[in-house]
Amino acid sequence: MSKPSTIEKDIYLPQLAAIEKRRLMNATEMYLRLKMDEGPLDYVPGQFVEVSVPGVGESPITVSSSPTQKEYFELVVRRIGNVTIAIHRLRIGDKVGIRGPYGNGAYPVEEAKGRNLVFICGGIGLVPQRSFVNYVLDNRDDYGEITVLLGTKCMAQRFFQSELDGWSHREDIHFMETVDEADDCWQGNVGVVTTLIPKIERELTSALVFICGPPVMYKFVLLALNEAKVPRENIFLNLERKMKCGVGKCGHCQINNLYVCIDGPVFRYSDLAVAPEAI
Ligand SMILES: Cc1cc2nc3c(=O)[nH]c(=O)nc-3n(C[C@H](O)[C@H](O)[C@H](O)COP(=O)(O)OP(=O)(O)OC[C@H]3O[C@@H](n4cnc5c(N)ncnc54)[C@H](O)[C@@H]3O)c2cc1C
Ligand code: FES
Repeated sequence: MSKPSTIEKDIYLPQLAAIEKRRLMNATEMYLRLKMDEGPLDYVPGQFVEVSVPGVGESPITVSSSPTQKEYFELVVRRIGNVTIAIHRLRIGDKVGIRGPYGNGAYPVEEAKGRNLVFICGGIGLVPQRSFVNYVLDNRDDYGEITVLLGTKCMAQRFFQSELDGWSHREDIHFMETVDEADDCWQGNVGVVTTLIPKIERELTSALVFICGPPVMYKFVLLALNEAKVPRENIFLNLERKMKCGVGKCGHCQINNLYVCIDGPVFRYSDLAVAPEAI
């Protein structure tokens, strides 16, 4: 019997990546800069990786850097359970396993060219959006106006502050921020992120709108966009579901006939008509 000429790549086999930088950004969110042992990670904005810690398990985490940054990639990990606590304990030089990048439904980088773009982010929802915003800023001439709305619970939970200050001082991006609860030091907007939407009615006309945040935010943002008459085809949502395999095999992330891991995690709102319970 002849030997098979190729060995099929094991889709569950992680590749190693080293932690080059780590920084606790607030009480629960850890910034990590990583480098793959075997050469750069090839991804597009909106994709995620399965990050594994030996002896503990693995978790899907979205890549937060822009792929225009070739030397390394960045993640932001919220400490919530076993795997994410183990990731927070890692030190510079430690290795993690990486599978992916995964997600065929990433941001529509090509379709968005020449269009005005509005990003609506809630809390940790800034993480995936940051990848596309920085990609657009690095390819600025290819895209129209950029508007970013960010809502955070309180000042202590804000992160990427110096980068956001940079955005707010640029002339080619309209950045607006709000916090749900302010203290005496806060000079800006107070209220949930939807309170900023009436202030950008002009920008919403004909823009592609990208939403990422906690599930409760989607309902109210979608109502506001509906009132502003933004067509469903122009709205994109980043969905999060519990995942296991990340590659469409286990069914953990299934919503009707959609698999968040392979059909998303970024979905066009009009395509979610087949799975209304997704939102
Ligand atoms: C596509 C995708 C991208 C993600 N990107 C990021 C990211 O960039 N940064 C980040 O910090 N987290 C991200 N997450 C969430 C992250 O994967 C989970 O928080 C992590 O797997 C929890 O693992 P754990 O072992 O630490 O906690 P567990 O013990 O597994 O869970 C702790 C608690 O969180 C709940 N939970 C776990 N995973 C999810 C989920 N996916 N949706 C809703 N509730 C959940 C559990 O039910 C439990 O209540 C992403 C999830 C998905 C599906
Ligand atoms: S996570 Fe297994 S099918 Fe999506």
